[in-house]
Amino acid sequence: MSEFLDSSPYDERLEKIEIEGLLEAVFKRYGYDFRNYAYPSLRRRIWHRALIEQLETVSMLQNLVLHDREAFERLLADLVIPVTEMFRDPGLFKALRERVMPILKQSSFVRVWHAGCATGEEAYSMAILLDQIQMLNKSRIYATDISEASLQRARQGIISQDRMTLYAHNYELSGGSEPFASFYETNHGQAMLNPRYLERIVFAEHNLVTDRSFNEFQIIFCRNVMIYFDTALRERVHGLLYDSLSPGGFLVLGNKESVAFTSFAGRYETWNDEYRIYRKLR
Ligand SMILES: C[S@@+](CC[C@H](N)C(=O)[O-])C[C@H]1O[C@@H](n2cnc3c(N)ncnc32)[C@H](O)[C@@H]1O
Repeated sequence: MSEFLDSSPYDERLEKIEIEGLLEAVFKRYGYDFRNYAYPSLRRRIWHRALIEQLETVSMLQNLVLHDREAFERLLADLVIPVTEMFRDPGLFKALRERVMPILKQSSFVRVWHAGCATGEEAYSMAILLDQIQMLNKSRIYATDISEASLQRARQGIISQDRMTLYAHNYELSGGSEPFASFYETNHGQAMLNPRYLERIVFAEHNLVTDRSFNEFQIIFCRNVMIYFDTALRERVHGLLYDSLSPGGFLVLGNKESVAFTSFAGRYETWNDEYRIYRKLR
């Protein structure tokens, strides 16, 4: 791979033409629009797939995915990065408990959107927080992603055994007091999120690039998704998120993300700078 990525005789301009061609072809053939994703990461992932498929050029990969849906699914799996965990960034969940949940508790009903939810662990965590303020039955959590494979996994509510210690530790650091073991049931050696959490979550396919807003929410999480987008696409998605938030609603971003440098900066109050919580001005 490094042969192509580093000191390659492969012409960079030619490579760019081919990558653009591949993205155009994927969009036209399958409707997935990666044309405005950040180029360096996209390029790395495309080459990763091309080399596994034992192809020498991106055009060859284009040819393959155009004619073979399964090859496209393999490329798609490389382009989406479903990394997540329960109570990821525990400090954020602590800040939510202390500074956001008391406000949500005043609502008669809370709609939550996890945009780019991957395999669902962030939505599971939010269901637990809502339960702890007796709001679970007065809320609906929408958890969306472009990856149907990730959503299928999310709907199962399986908590990986090998990540259990990490999740329990994150939960404790987030200020949780009940034992982590009370959130799941063990079935045939597998830990399953308690169904009462799962039944409040709707998992659905939604593409932030091509789909529209579908409701109004009191809180939206869109963490570690827009880091893969270029500036223009980020701006567009911020518009979608802003339009989907109710006045006074909260936007939660990843720890390397911000509303600063978008045209929406002045329309939010920074609620917690460290953990990237913003509140839409009324
Ligand atoms: C790194 S994960 C972040 C998961 C979770 N938000 C977190 O921070 O733990 C990024 C997710 O964004 C999803 N994604 C990428 N592009 C997307 C798009 N255009 N629309 C919706 N989801 C997208 C990927 O499929 C992946 O599951």
